[in-house]
Amino acid sequence: MEIVIKNLNHIYMPGTPFERQALQDLNMQISSGSFVAILGQTGSGKSTLIQLIAGLMSPTSGNIQIGSYHLTPNSKERLAVRKHVGVVFQYPEHQLFEETVVKDIAFGPRNQGLSEKEVTERVQMAMEMVGLSPELGDRSPFQLSGGQMRRVAIAGVLALSPEILILDEPTAGLDPHGKSELLNTISKLHKERQMTVILVTHDMNDAARFADYLFVLARGTCELEGTPGDVFKEQDHLVQFALDLPDITRLINQLNRQIHPPIPTNIFSMNELENHLIERLKKVVSL
Ligand SMILES: Nc1ncnc2c1ncn2[C@@H]1O[C@H](COP(=O)(O)OP(=O)(O)OP(=O)(O)O)[C@@H](O)[C@H]1O
Ligand SMILES: [Mg+2]
Repeated sequence: MEIVIKNLNHIYMPGTPFERQALQDLNMQISSGSFVAILGQTGSGKSTLIQLIAGLMSPTSGNIQIGSYHLTPNSKERLAVRKHVGVVFQYPEHQLFEETVVKDIAFGPRNQGLSEKEVTERVQMAMEMVGLSPELGDRSPFQLSGGQMRRVAIAGVLALSPEILILDEPTAGLDPHGKSELLNTISKLHKERQMTVILVTHDMNDAARFADYLFVLARGTCELEGTPGDVFKEQDHLVQFALDLPDITRLINQLNRQIHPPIPTNIFSMNELENHLIERLKKVVSL
């Protein structure tokens, strides 16, 4: 399902002293089956945007088209959209509440009115998708590690079979190993199931490594967008939005001060950089 956002505005508590314009004339297009990242400093409007895309709030004005649905201020299609869009909020494990892992993951599909057989199938599928072993099913979610709890929460969203999966800072608070394991799982799901993934992150390394298109929000509007290669070329621009460069881009920029021709700056994995350098060395040695 393609997402087309046109002239989107969102104002919290309009007409009160607390009025706050969180989104301002925002325009964006997210292709079906893509993996995009939304970047921007705190307060730039990222969480507001994803709540609107997920149909959890109505915009003040503008339009979000998702497939054939239209979300506008008075649209009645928010409920229908929610069936297609799964959202994993920050620290989703805080919302776990059932006695067992299986019951927690089953909550959503059961609420959708699926038969018990279908619910069981969905739970098994979702646990497999996030790499939770079946014997954890009868355990209390609160006896698991932080990383496992987060997987249970994500499995609960995946059990609803969303076509669009939105994750708001899914790796916050996880250790580096847990972090990369979780994002690798998401990336695999995206590739295998052509699921559209929208990742909200403050981590430029994750954005560069996993997303194929980036949007940078500032003061509620999209100020910069493009492939990671395009966006991370705009170093001066990014500083303005208080955003860093990925570590690997900083390393390449540093190396490029010493070597010629420069290493391409659209390399975002150590493997790729290693291969590039080995190829170059081979050429030098054979001369
Ligand atoms: N429920 C709310 N009521 C009033 N104002 C809000 C509400 N939620 C967010 N805001 C305001 O709207 C603006 C955008 O907030 P939002 O949470 O969308 O930013 P964000 O980019 O997700 O920030 P962060 O990176 O800190 O999560 C901020 O100025 C925020 O204070
Ligand atoms: Mg937020």
